[in-house]
Amino acid sequence: MHLAGKTVVLCVTGGIAAYKAADLTSKLRQAGATVRVLMTESATQFISPITFETLSGYRTVVDTFDRNFAWEVEHISLAKAADVFVIAPATANIIAKAAHGIADDMVSTTLLATKAPVVIAPAMNTGMYDNPVTQQNLQTLRARGFHIIDPAAGHLACGDTGRGKLPDTPTLLHGIEQALTPQDLKSLRVLVTAGPTQEALDPVRFLSNHSSGKMGYAIAARAAMRGAQVTLVSGPTALATPLGVERVDIVSARDMYDAVVSRAGAQDIIIKAAAVGDYRPAQTADEKLKKSDLDLNIALVRNPDILAELGRTKHPGQQLCGFAMETQNLLENASDKLRRKNCDMLVANSLRDKGAGFGTDTNAVTLLFADGTRETPPLMSKEDVADVIFDRLLAMRESAT
Ligand code: PMT
Repeated sequence: MHLAGKTVVLCVTGGIAAYKAADLTSKLRQAGATVRVLMTESATQFISPITFETLSGYRTVVDTFDRNFAWEVEHISLAKAADVFVIAPATANIIAKAAHGIADDMVSTTLLATKAPVVIAPAMNTGMYDNPVTQQNLQTLRARGFHIIDPAAGHLACGDTGRGKLPDTPTLLHGIEQALTPQDLKSLRVLVTAGPTQEALDPVRFLSNHSSGKMGYAIAARAAMRGAQVTLVSGPTALATPLGVERVDIVSARDMYDAVVSRAGAQDIIIKAAAVGDYRPAQTADEKLKKSDLDLNIALVRNPDILAELGRTKHPGQQLCGFAMETQNLLENASDKLRRKNCDMLVANSLRDKGAGFGTDTNAVTLLFADGTRETPPLMSKEDVADVIFDRLLAMRESAT
């Protein structure tokens, strides 16, 4: 999460979901952000300002008639201090005021004064949310560049069922981080592969490898955070699908081949971080093999090479990035793969390097480019590696135009 050191001005307005803003405050602070909370008078009917004071470590600012401090200065200084301005939950009332520039309390005046990106998380009764007036107001705000986090659907406090619930904290955090992140992959479609493949020997046994999926999932997560339309083709992993990512689950290398090749034509960028099994058992038994049936010399046949196929069918403007995991002769093997498989970039990592490879949260990589140049960033988190990959791919796109 990239919220450390950021100042989040969190405005809580008066709805039953106001209590959920307490968890948001806590999680923002745990992520390293400074949180300054503003509440409307009606929000204080649902949750006490003291809750936010305790969680944020700052005085909660309530309304323009609080004369215990210099509110005129306070609201302008908060408007200026904000790296991001969040209204969660946002009632139909504050949405209407924001759309029409009405400034009659602390939240609305500070909102009008800020130049920070604004995130609005509507939460209200379904009828109020679906009302054309509210929808028109949200449309106005979207057109003005506000970031709207769509409400979730479900059972509402009023007893109705429908759209209008404040989304869960991870979704709110994702929306806030996205508002702080340049959307430089916005119009691009990105396909990422991740995790291991499993090649069945019988219904209970398979050949596989140690890939956890962390590298590929980090790439998919950063691509989505930077605005791309992301498809993640994933082997079996224990990881949660990153927010904003479409995930396609596969098991074997041949499943991955079908899932990737059928989608490849529509992609701008394809990144193959999966550890694909090169071989599979020549035969898969329908029933569990008995110990006595198991031939210790298992016959293997080759799996299709997905990256090589993508290199053959790459269309103009499409960028192909492969990975290479080696235990020896890393750069020689990687540059050979880059050339043979017609990649634009190849990310080489070695199981011999500390903090690199399978299961780690970090990676030590060398990026090899089709023009023969190389770059070795320092050991960094897999998310940061993902960002470096996209920065370089974008630079290549720009220099090609
Ligand atoms: O998942 P983690 O635990 O985070 O670990 C990350 C990782 C080590 C799996 C990742 O960083 C990595 O190196 N992935 C590629 C591993 C690999 O299979 O390397 P390879 O050298 O065997 O394959 C080269 C490239 O060809 C890879 O892009 C691979 O996806 C692709 N390939 C390989 C075989 C095959 N049949 N089809 C392929 O497309």
